[in-house]
Amino acid sequence: MAEVEASPATGTAIPTGPGPVALIGMMGSGKTTVGRRLARALDRPFVDADDELVRRTGRSVRQWFEQAGEDAFRAAEAELLADLLAAPGPAVIACGGGAVVTPSNREVLRRRARVVWLRAGAPFLVSRARRRDHRPLLDGDAEATIQRLVAERSVLYDEVADHVLDVEPYHSAHEKPKREMAAHLAQIIRRAEATETTS
Ligand code: S3P
Repeated sequence: MAEVEASPATGTAIPTGPGPVALIGMMGSGKTTVGRRLARALDRPFVDADDELVRRTGRSVRQWFEQAGEDAFRAAEAELLADLLAAPGPAVIACGGGAVVTPSNREVLRRRARVVWLRAGAPFLVSRARRRDHRPLLDGDAEATIQRLVAERSVLYDEVADHVLDVEPYHSAHEKPKREMAAHLAQIIRRAEATETTS
């Protein structure tokens, strides 16, 4: 079974006590479903960053890309993430898959959140990341795009992750893989928070 490990690359102190938990990873890795279940297990509020952006701006992700462009979407995404991570209270936040491409997001994630990377390889993600309305980047050759994005972003996910969870073994071993992932993460997070509070 996949183990959650502390990222050797982070080199920064994990925040003490219950703070925000941020799930990062590629489209199709399961951030939204695992995040919702994790929030329920920890009895904390859940925020999906894309949904929250749409709610606050009245513009869908596709409209952001098509009407304002990706750069404007990234700026709005960064403003939102900074705002979510500044709020008091230990929410669970599912970040958009591309949040880590913005340097200020990496900075604020490292400083303010316990970050979990749901890691998966490109072939797995291709089979799972459906072309949905909020994923305009997958409109063309989705397979090639996912392969490219995994290659470009893995180093960035690794840079900010406090914990890495390999999702594929859960899908091979469990009928309800996302439920298992959330349960395992809840344990890891409770344990880490308890250790930090007492140390
Ligand atoms: C994106 C991922 C999407 C959404 C947007 C861009 C990306 O979120 O933010 O389409 O760049 O990987 P999900 O990871 O929740 O699908």
